[in-house]
Amino acid sequence: MKKSVRKAIIAGNWKMNKTRPEAKALLEEIKPLVANADVEVVACVPFTNLETAIAATEGSNIKIGAENVHFEKSGAYTGEISADMLVELGVEYVVIGHSERRQYFAETDETVNKRTKAALAAGLKPIVCVGELLWERECSITEEVIARQIKLDLYDIPAEDVKKTVIAYEPVWAIGTGKTATADQAEEVCALIRATLAKLYDEETAQAVTIQYGGSMNAGNCAELLSKENVDGGLIGGASLKAADFNTIVQAAVNG
Ligand code: PGA
Repeated sequence: MKKSVRKAIIAGNWKMNKTRPEAKALLEEIKPLVANADVEVVACVPFTNLETAIAATEGSNIKIGAENVHFEKSGAYTGEISADMLVELGVEYVVIGHSERRQYFAETDETVNKRTKAALAAGLKPIVCVGELLWERECSITEEVIARQIKLDLYDIPAEDVKKTVIAYEPVWAIGTGKTATADQAEEVCALIRATLAKLYDEETAQAVTIQYGGSMNAGNCAELLSKENVDGGLIGGASLKAADFNTIVQAAVNG
């Protein structure tokens, strides 16, 4: 299997941005721009914007995702949202284990694994984020860090579920910093992720998984990043909040 048969997925990660009217306005702006794009277009938005976003994109080719999900079905977990609650709204994707959650909210590989299993069980498509810290790259342990995260985050998840899972490689030092990994650096780690999947599962499974790059991807650098064999898409933060820039990235993926 080659890149050409994997699903290219461009997903916006809005983080903690946009009120409901702002969310509606941004999606109305993006909708016509990406209407004919032959790639999967996703907007992952704050919980409070999910209903608005789903209503605004109804009948369009934009899919809506959440930015986190809890692993239990229900119960005494104040402030948390379950996978079933997201599915009930019409949410299709969910970002899991973003480095901001790992850094600021004590997310661990164990909870990432539990959340991923819960998402898959409910029929959501998880976007599982992995990535090394700058310090880890400087110590030349990027490979170990990424392989460890992949093994732990996907622990006990069968091949047919992994095929429904998107992996986002997001070097932590590149997120929101304006520092992008070079296309070669992104390709190297995305290829490593695929090789790790091939070892854990098999080559066919590894070839079927969409692997995104994320970290300061923008209208200027997206074409080179997305042209790489193992970079199947992008998880876009800052640039996903500007309709024209997000569309440029979507169109680059069409050509990627
Ligand atoms: P950025 O964020 O594009 O603003 O660097 C990417 C992400 O955190 O998913």
